[in-house]
Amino acid sequence: MRLIIVANRLPVTTVRRGTTLAFKPSIGGLTTGLNALLRAGNPKGLDDYCWVGWPGLPPAGFDDEALRAALAEMPRYVPVLYSKKLYKDFYSGFCNSCLWPLFHALPTLTTYQEWQWTQYVRANELYLEALAPMLREDDVVWVHDYHLMLLPQMIRQKFPRITIGFFLHIPFPHYEIFRILPSAWRSQLLKGMMGADVVGFHTNDYAQDFLKCILKISGLENKDGLVMTQNRIVAVRNYPMGIAYDDFHRAALETEASGKKNEFLKDFQGQKLILSVDRLDYTKGVVNRLLGYEQFLAKHPEWHQKVSLIMVLAPSRTDVSLYGRMKKEIEMLVGKINGAFGQPHWTPVLYQYQTKSFDELSLLYVTADVALITPLRDGMNLIAKEFVASRSRQNGVLILSELAGASQELIEAKIINPFHIREIADAIDESLNLTEAEQHDAMTRMRRQIKGYDVVRWADDFVGDLTKSRKTMDALRQK
Ligand code: G6P
Repeated sequence: MRLIIVANRLPVTTVRRGTTLAFKPSIGGLTTGLNALLRAGNPKGLDDYCWVGWPGLPPAGFDDEALRAALAEMPRYVPVLYSKKLYKDFYSGFCNSCLWPLFHALPTLTTYQEWQWTQYVRANELYLEALAPMLREDDVVWVHDYHLMLLPQMIRQKFPRITIGFFLHIPFPHYEIFRILPSAWRSQLLKGMMGADVVGFHTNDYAQDFLKCILKISGLENKDGLVMTQNRIVAVRNYPMGIAYDDFHRAALETEASGKKNEFLKDFQGQKLILSVDRLDYTKGVVNRLLGYEQFLAKHPEWHQKVSLIMVLAPSRTDVSLYGRMKKEIEMLVGKINGAFGQPHWTPVLYQYQTKSFDELSLLYVTADVALITPLRDGMNLIAKEFVASRSRQNGVLILSELAGASQELIEAKIINPFHIREIADAIDESLNLTEAEQHDAMTRMRRQIKGYDVVRWADDFVGDLTKSRKTMDALRQK
C-alpha cells in the first residue's frame, strides 16, 4: 500500500538564492511533524509514500515552469501551483482570514467573503485534479488540515472504495463558534470532512465538538465516535500528535558534550534564560506574554540583570494584514520593555524575527532555564514538546497555556491562563524559584509521556485505524 499525504504545503518552500531557485524547509507544526515521521521510515504496513502540496509562490524572476523543473528532482513531491488570485483569496483569504481565526475562537477577527469561499472550493478541486491521475484504489490517502476540508468528499465521489483519512492540525471550535459560518459553508465543510473513513483531531475535546456539530448540523448521531452515514462508517477520534523525540534528545546530548552550550552561556553569566519560540501569529499570545514579563520585571527588581527573555518569532503569513499589525505591536512592546528596564550590559528581551534551523533551536532548548509558551489557543503546540525532549538533564521548567492542546498531555507543566497577565508574571517568578528536585520530578514525567507517544506512534495509530476501517468496509461490501 502507498501512503499519499496531501497537505496545503509541501515540506519544502521555494526561495531565491543568488540567481538560482532553491528550497528551504517549510515551517509550522504540520510539516515539522510529518517530516520527522518520514525520516523515521514509513508508517506501519505502508511501502512507499508521496506528498502532494504547494511549494510557495515562485520568487521574483522565476515562473511556474522553473518551479516544476526544480521540483522534478524530488519525485516524491507532487506540486500544486497557485495563481496569484488563489494565493490571495484561498490562502491569505478564506484559509487564513476566515477559518484560521474562527477555529481559534477569535470570531471578531474573522472575515466572511463569498468570493473567498468560491476560491476555497476551487483550490480543493485543484488538489483533486493533481491527485486523480495518480490515485489507485489500494492507496491510503491522508489529507491534512483546514485548507483541504472539502477534499475527502471530492476524492470519495471519484474513488468510492479508496481509504481516506483526514487530520485537523488546529482546534475544532465549539458548535456555538462553528455555527457563525454561513449555513451553506458550514454544512459543506462537515460533509467534506465526512468523506474520510477516519477523522482525527489532536484532543478529545475537539473530537467531541466536531461530533456535536455533526449531530446539530448534519443530523447524524454517533456511537462511541462512530458515525453511520448512508453507506459508510466514519470513525472520529483524537490522536495527539507527537514529535521525533529521539532527534531532539540526541541533539541535546551532542550540544552538551560538544561544549556549544557553555560557549553560548558565556554571554549570560549569572543569568537565567527564558525562551519563547513561535511563528509570528496573533493566536500565540505574544503580546500577553510580553505584558506578563513586563509585570514580572516591575514586581521583582531582584531579578533585574539576572534574567533575559530570548524571543524568537518566525515570519509567517506576512501578506495577511493582521499579522503585520501584530508584528508592529510586538516590536513596540519589546522596545518599551527594553527602554524601561534595560541597562548598558543588560537587554531584558532579546528579540529575533527569524526562522531558526534545527541546530539553532536545539541549542536554545538546551540552554534555556524556562520555556514560556502562552498561546491564546493552539491545536497542539509542538514547541512545548520539543523543549521537553531536549532536556536530557531532566531540569528546566515549562510554562504552558491551558488553551494549547499539549496541556492535556503535559499536565506537570506550570499551566497558566494566557489571558491573565498576572498569572503569567507569577508563573515566571515561581518557575525561576523552583528547586532542582521539583524541576526534575515534573520534567521526568513529561519526558516519559512524550517519549512514549512520539510522532511515529501517532502516525501508526492513525494509519492503523485507517487500515482497520478498510477491512471493515471490505467485509461489509462482501456481505
Ligand atoms: C499551522 C498549520 C499548518 C501550517 C503552519 C504554517 O501549523 O496547522 O497547516 O502549514 O501553521 O503556516 P503556513 O500558512 O505558513 O503554511
